[in-house]
Amino acid sequence: MLDLAVEYQSFILRGIMYTLAITIISLSMGFTISLILTAARFLGFKPLRMAAEAYINFFRGTPLLVQILMVFFGLPSLGVNLSAFYSAVIAIGLNSGAYQAEILRVAIKGIPEEQMLVARSLGLSEIEIMKGVVIPQAVRNAIPGLTNETVILLKESSLASVIGVMELTRVGEYMVSATFRALEAYLLIALIYLALSMIAFRMLKRAEKSLAIPGFE
Ligand code: ARG
Repeated sequence: MLDLAVEYQSFILRGIMYTLAITIISLSMGFTISLILTAARFLGFKPLRMAAEAYINFFRGTPLLVQILMVFFGLPSLGVNLSAFYSAVIAIGLNSGAYQAEILRVAIKGIPEEQMLVARSLGLSEIEIMKGVVIPQAVRNAIPGLTNETVILLKESSLASVIGVMELTRVGEYMVSATFRALEAYLLIALIYLALSMIAFRMLKRAEKSLAIPGFE
């Protein structure tokens, strides 16, 4: 297995870069989308709320693989031609937006209602309550879920291989087609994913700790 790693090191390094790029860009895109969906959900204007719910149901209720295929093969018939890389990033980002909106919903629900009552009775405005009471706690509550989502996206980015993006999994397929050493090649790729997800998990847990309220971590 080591000789495979050495022989294909430049492919593997490029694969790691693509895998990380897909993960980071689609995570950020998903986060932005989740903020918009959360605002639409909580602002109390019914059509907006229903549109947000429909979006979330669609992206959580259909396979990510089908969503990727729709963006890559479907959008060109509407005149939108995206590279395989951007198709994967956009599909995974749209999908993650729906999951991250759910993480934020649970995070906001976790704030005891009494706090809003107290804040209101102290005379704080709705905006002050949002800024001073809801958002700081919601962010803290959301962090474990967002850590999870990061590791999920790292692994789900492997679906980009089906449309030919040269990320880690596709590099594995390439190595197998060139050497026929399937077990070793895929095991090597799996171990690289494992290392990456462990590093990501450790880094995010450390960030979580530094944000925790002393005594409540
Ligand atoms: N394999 C799942 C699917 O096809 C992955 C969903 C992505 N999950 C996520 N938390 N972004 O639907």
